[in-house]
Amino acid sequence: MNESNVPPEDEERAQTLARELHEHNIRYHVHDAPVISDTEYDRMMRELQELEEKYPALASPDSPTMRVGAPPLDSFDAFNHDPPMRSLENAVAEEEIFAFEERAKRFLLQTYDRNVEAFNFTCEPKLDGLAVEVIYRDGFFHSGGTRGNGVSGEDITQNLKTVRGIPLRLRFPEGGPAPPAYLAVRGEVFMNLRGFEKLNRERLEREEPPFANPRNAAAGSLRQLDSRITAARPLDAAFYAVGRVEGFSFHSQSHLLESLPEWGLPVSPVWRKCANLREAVGFYEELLSGREDAPYEQDGVVLKVDSVELQNELGSTSRAPRWAVAYKFPAKQETTQVEDIIFQVGRTGAVTPVALMKPVRVGGVEVTRATLHNEDEMRRKDVRRGDHVLIQRAGDVIPEVVAVIEERRPPAAEAVPMPLECPICATPVERPEGEAVVRCPNPVCPAVVREGLRHFASRRAMDVDGLGEKLVNQLVDSDLVSEPADFFALSKEQLASLERMGEKSAENLLEALERAKKPALARFIYSLGIRHVGEHIAEVLAERFGSVGELSRADTETLTSVHEVGPQVAERIVRFFADPASGRMVDNLLSAGVEPQAPLKAAEGGSGEAPFSGFSFVLTGTLSGRSRSEAKAAIEALGGRVSSSVSKNTSFLVAGEGPGSKLKNAESLGVEILDEDAFERMLAREKGS
Ligand code: IVH
Repeated sequence: MNESNVPPEDEERAQTLARELHEHNIRYHVHDAPVISDTEYDRMMRELQELEEKYPALASPDSPTMRVGAPPLDSFDAFNHDPPMRSLENAVAEEEIFAFEERAKRFLLQTYDRNVEAFNFTCEPKLDGLAVEVIYRDGFFHSGGTRGNGVSGEDITQNLKTVRGIPLRLRFPEGGPAPPAYLAVRGEVFMNLRGFEKLNRERLEREEPPFANPRNAAAGSLRQLDSRITAARPLDAAFYAVGRVEGFSFHSQSHLLESLPEWGLPVSPVWRKCANLREAVGFYEELLSGREDAPYEQDGVVLKVDSVELQNELGSTSRAPRWAVAYKFPAKQETTQVEDIIFQVGRTGAVTPVALMKPVRVGGVEVTRATLHNEDEMRRKDVRRGDHVLIQRAGDVIPEVVAVIEERRPPAAEAVPMPLECPICATPVERPEGEAVVRCPNPVCPAVVREGLRHFASRRAMDVDGLGEKLVNQLVDSDLVSEPADFFALSKEQLASLERMGEKSAENLLEALERAKKPALARFIYSLGIRHVGEHIAEVLAERFGSVGELSRADTETLTSVHEVGPQVAERIVRFFADPASGRMVDNLLSAGVEPQAPLKAAEGGSGEAPFSGFSFVLTGTLSGRSRSEAKAAIEALGGRVSSSVSKNTSFLVAGEGPGSKLKNAESLGVEILDEDAFERMLAREKGS
């Protein structure tokens, strides 16, 4: 088809969509200031995709639709770096930082007879991902590759194009300098913790092995021959250096970090120009103390002599520049000893080996157990009772055993075999062919029931305030609850009779249960614990079907026609509702007064969307007018999301009395802050609209 076949209004529409999508991307990824919701963005993207499919002449190589990935490659080509991408000198103690500065001063004095009293340093977090170079010609994304050995890496152009934070064309700022004619930018592609945890939850849901840490997840995602896989992974990018540049020059590192965002290229949201080494050390300490709250993993701070003139004089050794140093944070890995290996039975009956270890602090948190994932993993790592092991912790993820330290294996260390019977109910376990998971097939296994109930009440599911794991255990142990509907039949007397439960807490719990009776439909679906139905799929289902009844009546064909629902998931859903026991469980919940709330969109007959859809809120401090869970419910009712930590993707921080460290975090990330009044006004306005 040639261009003349494209109706002019379609061509114009496609151009408008492409331009707006580029702009929204930059707003989202570079300025943390989205003006449309993700759903709206997806809708525009789909419209453009459809137009380009209809008229292939409309598709240009820099079209935002290129982000969906291209057909798989057989192998990667080489990608050369000019000049080479160097590594960084590491420092692990303050003395080493001072020694680094001394060396740099001495070098300047001896080589140039130049006496520098103190350097200005630009300090940035050392992001933990995969180093890449991206080349822009005349403002257009041209190609990109991994760092590799520094001189030559792999050409991963197709994959980098799918990373939403990497612009496909650069912005020409009004009144500012145009992007250089040739620009090789260097930076890190990484996965933030939220994306990482979500990806791992989804992988577990699909019974795929989780990634050990965000770095592995990012590297594994980028080095896929099939870029459509990369496209589905939540990757972020931040640039921090340049290679060859023509038509522009940077006079300092801070100038570089200020210029890149002007052209639409993301840089780390936190960095600081420090007047001397003391200030730089202060920045390091600040980042280190906020490390647990940061939205992504950082393994240290990179100090760079700010002035490019001085950088050039200092030059590089064959390995690393003399003007920069990575001041590393303490590792989140530790060694300890395995005291025992036990087997836990999960909600789906999966039997998971868990190492019980001598307590050890890892990155500030005490750890006593680590998952060994499954039988194959345990064998592959050959972890035995008594072994010394290296363990690591990433985000909120359960710590895991990285490797055994074989040199230290005690002679008496013994391998622990997988049990042949469920350790809880003694039913013979099953391991279906081709699966890594050993499972207890007994649907009324007490462990399966208990885990199902814990899942039902958990924060991501029905989110009943105060109904934590301990209390669920107590309720199960005292035979007060054996299926989800039982929670809603609890009386004050029954609750108050439990150990460590006063009258006041019993009342609070009953109130929380009452409030939980109106969950968003997606939460309700998720809370049922249908295998392979994670939070995301639950949302997709809620949106499509609008009620539990509709969902329960859908057949495999209808289900698979829903975007993102595969045959495996569809089969599980059909099986769930066809099973009399689970059918009864759902009916009992509805009879107990639970009323799942349809997403606003469906309720309004498909027009318009929830006012807060695509916006995420974080709550801190105490609000005088509502409890935290009430505030949360109000936000969710309008389609918003509430998360527990502030990240660059947070839309608003609601700050009540006595806000915690989240406020500082939000300020440094430039997240919009609402006090209670502003929050209430916003709610009132949106409810009214
Ligand atoms: S600058 C000449 N800045 O650390 C400058 N590197 O250990 C060389 N890294 O390969 C790199 N964050 O993957 C620089 N803000 C940052 C960084 C950073 C992470 C990585 C990068 C590099 C490795 C060197």
